[in-house]
Parts: sequence; C-alpha cells; structure tokens
Amino acid sequence: MTAKDLLKPVEDLTEAEADAELARLADEIAGHDMRYYQQEAPTVSDAEYDALKQRNAAIEARFPHLVRDNSPSLRVGAARAETFAPVEHGVPMLSLDNAFSNDDAVEFDARVRRFLRLGDEVVAYTAEPKIDGLSASLRYERGVLVQGATRGDGRVGEDVTENLRTVGEIPHRLKGSGWPEVIEVRGEVYFGHDDFAALNAAAEAAGQRTYVNPRNAASGSLRQIDPRITAQRSLRFFAYAWGLLSAPFAQTQWEALAALGAWGFQVTPQARRVEGAQGLVEAYAAMEALRPHLGFDIDGVVYKVDRLDWQARLGFVSRSPRWAIARKFPAQRARTILEAIDIQVGRTGAVTPVARLHPVTVGGVVVENATLHNADEIARLDARIGDTVVIQRAGDVIPQIVEVVLDERPDGAEPYVFPTHCPCPLHTPLARETTTGGAETVVRRCTGEFACPFQRIEHLRHFVSRRAFDIEGLGEKQLQAFFDEGLVKTPADIFTLEERDRASLKKLKDRERMGETSVKNLFAAIEARRTIPLDRFIYGLGIRHIGESTAVALARGYGTAEAFLAAMDKVADRDPEAMAELDALDQIGAAVIEAAAAYFAEDHNRRIVQDLVSQLTIQEAERPKTDTAVAGKTVVFTGALERMTRDEAKAQAEALGAKVASSVSKKTDIVVAGPGAGSKLKTATDLGIQVMTEDEWLALVEA
Ligand code: IVH
Repeated sequence: MTAKDLLKPVEDLTEAEADAELARLADEIAGHDMRYYQQEAPTVSDAEYDALKQRNAAIEARFPHLVRDNSPSLRVGAARAETFAPVEHGVPMLSLDNAFSNDDAVEFDARVRRFLRLGDEVVAYTAEPKIDGLSASLRYERGVLVQGATRGDGRVGEDVTENLRTVGEIPHRLKGSGWPEVIEVRGEVYFGHDDFAALNAAAEAAGQRTYVNPRNAASGSLRQIDPRITAQRSLRFFAYAWGLLSAPFAQTQWEALAALGAWGFQVTPQARRVEGAQGLVEAYAAMEALRPHLGFDIDGVVYKVDRLDWQARLGFVSRSPRWAIARKFPAQRARTILEAIDIQVGRTGAVTPVARLHPVTVGGVVVENATLHNADEIARLDARIGDTVVIQRAGDVIPQIVEVVLDERPDGAEPYVFPTHCPCPLHTPLARETTTGGAETVVRRCTGEFACPFQRIEHLRHFVSRRAFDIEGLGEKQLQAFFDEGLVKTPADIFTLEERDRASLKKLKDRERMGETSVKNLFAAIEARRTIPLDRFIYGLGIRHIGESTAVALARGYGTAEAFLAAMDKVADRDPEAMAELDALDQIGAAVIEAAAAYFAEDHNRRIVQDLVSQLTIQEAERPKTDTAVAGKTVVFTGALERMTRDEAKAQAEALGAKVASSVSKKTDIVVAGPGAGSKLKTATDLGIQVMTEDEWLALVEA
C-alpha cells in the first residue's frame, strides 16, 4: 500500500479495504483520544483529528454493516476508563450543538420559532454560563443521593458515587420539598481558579505532576480510585439540568434552576432569563464582560428555551437537543515571534517539533511554547525561525500555531529544514514511520530505542506513571534528577534504590537534598509497587501499541508473567505457533504482534525486563474460562435485567470467558433482552442473532 492508496476516495474502496481501514481508524482515533483526554498530550492537530473522524464516518456511511463495536462514531468525548463500574444513565447525557456568532444565535431563535410555528410570538430563553468542567449525573431517590456518575460516552458513564459524595457543594440529602421521588440532577464539576493554582503549587512542591488546566484537574480529581484523594481536592459543582424524573417539577428552565437552588445546589448566579434573538445577543456580550471576573473557566453561553413544554415539543436531533445551543467564545489568539524549533523525542522515539516563542499573553496565560505536531505541519505553515506567527489557545489545549504572518517575514529567513538525525548523543538517523501496510505516515522516529537517552527517560516516566506502576513521589523532576545523576537508568534501578542508598556513602538525602520524610515516603511508595498486577507490569514496559486495554488482554490471555515472557521470547524468534497464539487473543492485531516481536528481539530490552522481573512479585491475571457454554462469545445485554444488576451480569459473563459489548453488530453472538429492549433487539433480529431472555441466559451459564 502507498500513501496514495490510503487516501483512496471512499467511493472506490472495496468492502475488504473499507473493513481494514475502519479497523485502523478505530485504533488510531482511540489512541488520539487517549492521548488527548487521558494523558492531555495530543500528537495531532485538531484538523488532522477531525479529518480522521470524517473519513471514518464517510466509510461507515457507505458500508453501514461494517460499523465496528469500537467505532469512534459511537463515542462522544472521552472513552471510559476501566477502573470504575459502568452506570447506564436513566436518560442519556447529550451534547449541545455549537453557535459561533450573533448570526448563529439569531438563526437559532428563528429555527425554534419555525419549528413551534409561533409566528411573531417572542420566545423566552435562559442564558447560562457554559462551565468548563466535566459533567456529572447525580441520582436522588426520595431525596437521598444514591448514585453519581460521569458522562462517559453519554449513555454509560462511570460510577464515581463515593468521589462525588466528597464534593461539598453536592447535597447528600435534598433540602426543602417538592422534589420528585426519583431525579437525576445534572451539572458540572469544576475547579475554581484559586483552588486550581493552589493544587498545582502543592503538586509542584511535592515534585509531582501538575495539571494543564482546571478542567483536567477536575476530571483527574473526580476519577481518583481513592475517594480520600478526591476529598482533598476543592471540587465544586453547579447544577443546571436533569435526566430521569419520576414526575415533573417545574414548567420552565428558570423555575427549574430556582428549584435546584432551593434543594441545596449551587446554580450559576450569572444565569439570566432573556427574550428573543436580541436578548440572546445581549446576554452573550454580558457574559463575555463577566468572564474575567468569574473565578472559574467558562467557554461560552448555553441558550435554552425556557418553557419546558416547548422543549418537549422541540425534542432532539441525533445527540443534541433542538431547544438548546452552546454559543462558544472564540479561540484566543495572539501574535509573537517564533524564536526556535526544538525537537522532542518521545518514549517510542517519535519526534515532535516544538516551537519556542517569544513569551506572549493569550487569554491571561503566558505562552512560550506551542506544538508544531510534525514535519508536514511545519512545511504546511512554512514556518521559519524569526517569523511572526499567530498562536491560538482554544479553551485550554496546548497552544497551536495557526498561521505565519508573511508580510512580517524578516529578510533572509530560510525555510526550516527538518533534522535528519535524532538530537540525542547517538545521533541516530530519523526514519519516517510506515503503517503495517507500508504507507508512510507523518511520524518520524529515532531508531535508537533504549540506547537513546531521551527515549530512556520517557520510558521511565511512562513506567512510573499513574496508569502503569503509579509510584507516588517519583514525579517528573525527581525522576529526571535521579536519571541525570545516574541513580536510575532502568526500571529495575528504582527497586534497588533503597538498598543502594543504604550501602552507598552518599545518601539520597544529601545528594538530592531530599528531606528524611520524603526519602522514607518514596521508599515506601516503591515498596508498595513491588507486587504488581500482570497487566500493569506489561503496560509499564511501554512497548509500542501496547496500551492499557491491550495489556489487560495480554495478561488475561497468558495468565502469568512466566507464560507471557516465555511466549514473547518465542514471538521474538518468530515462532509461528507462538505468533498464532498471540494473534488469536482478543484485541490483538498485526501492529501489536510486530511491536512485541521487535521489542523482545532486542537483547537490551530482554535484559531490562529480566532485571525488573527479578525485583518484583507479579500477580497472576484472572484467565477467562474456555470450557464454558459462552466462552469466546460476544454478548450484549439490553433492556432491564430483573435477577441481577448490569455489573453482575457483565462480571459473570466475563468470568465465564465471554466478551460483553455495548452495541449489537454482526460480531455479536448472543443478545440477552429484558423488558423495554428497543433498537438493539431489533438490530439483533434483523441480523439473525440469537436472542434470549434473562432466565434462558442464566440457565445457560449456570448449567
Ligand atoms: S445543559 C442536553 N447547561 O456543556 C444537554 N450544559 O456540550 C444539557 N455545560 O456536557 C446540557 N455548562 O458538560 C448545560 N449551563 C450549562 C452547561 C452545560 C456546561 C456542558 C455540559 C455538557 C456540555 C454540552
């Protein structure tokens, strides 16, 4: 395959090509989502990301039967982490359409009036600040908070009840009266500017990672496994909407906000009730003026039709309501000088050009660096050292260079020549990366692997990171210092640090100027991770293409570290049987097999792994059963379950070796349908998939 084939027009794709490309796009987009939402470190521009999603959608539109269970089009926002139990929202949590100008706002009002056939009647709206946090849904039964969840993919979120209970502004019991027996209250969990600054200052002082912006801090704080950590974070909550209701409680959005306030929630004091298109336009201007003084981040104004009976008539189009729209603030831009372009080397050797800028304030934040993504992006912009560039901070993401001001190009500015060699002392040639199909991609990679000091430190960073070994107290700075001092060169060194420190003449205390308590804490944190689940161990190795979920699949597939490593040795030798066994595991494709083979073929890597293993107790993974009636089958539960909860059903099915999916496709083997099952049941019937009742399912699995 060549680069051109990759961009073959969608109309010309054969079914097999489309299937392969959808698989590749699902992986690629999931990777970008993970880097964007979970690691807060995107590697492509928004435009490139959108292009991938669009191509995916176009292929799916032409081949609807090829839509995959893990299709990016079936997700809104961040993928769910696997650590929290799933919660199906009583009513889905939808997103809002965006408006960007006064004209858009006027058109929104016109659309509402047309739809409702109101003629000249003036429509009242609420205009509320669009809080830039993360949305949460709180279920109250008889006034008592029983469950709290994140939005997740909109349909199913994560159960973060205990964490939400620690948020002071979330009532455990509703005040007053008049609340429906069952209500899902929705709103935004967020960080105030002061609390955010204090949180980061404390993290910095402790040598831990800081958060890029208040929204990421809110998300990271809410999704802590240990609610005691969440409790230490000053999270706040504004209520602005609701989901499932056992009975109506208001006639207008304005009344609803007042009711939420009376029940003990914070509602945004800046919300206004306005009339007509003119009111919408004025409310936006007013909010823009208030923005710098709010003390928390907002990224626009949400307009909602005030009358709830009209909202009901307006209803929804796909994933957004017709009765509301988000008027977004424009991205914030500024001009500055591009002073230099540095090349950064990531853990897997991928090199990223970073623009060093003359410091400039954009939306209240001093910006000195911007990402340039890759060599193609520099060429597209024709960015040259000395150029005046326009940079943009959209909400919060890493600043980007959007354009070069050609009129101001200094005389003699030369086109930028992308380095051919890694800036590391090894000076290895940079190779342009190809896909498994052989097509060139925009990524360039240092081939020095672990011999390249840049990659080595990135490997170590990955190794200690939250989702891998999660070693508290070994933050960026600390790790860099240990690395620079030569105290920690490979992961195993972390586990021999205490022993060496005891034996050596110079204690960490003197050498790294660490306090006695922090040294003790660090050693305790390291000790705590000496016993590690197999999946985290595999993920921690930082092998390309082996992310968290792949690591879990490998751990389940092999069960023990011994079995995994023995198999990998054979894979490295390209033993056909071992490769076939790996290929047969769920979720494992050619890219993973290649990456694992390449990694374990490297003597240096094998040594690193051996040294590490000798320091650890690696826990066995629970292996899925293979001798049950449902082993290897893909099951979808839909409708209500009456004899077990969703979580129980899922856990039981998985323990018996089945895979539980959330949507029905041609890969589904069994659909368990309870009362109220809807479109999934229909799809299953259309596709001729086996459908059974909960009782039949139980009879099958408990037989
Ligand atoms: S109303 C049917 N009101 O914006 C949608 N959303 O793009 C009901 N948001 O996920 C949402 N402030 O996280 C609403 N005053 C506000 C909001 C708000 C922030 C967020 C929310 C939602 C996203 C929609």
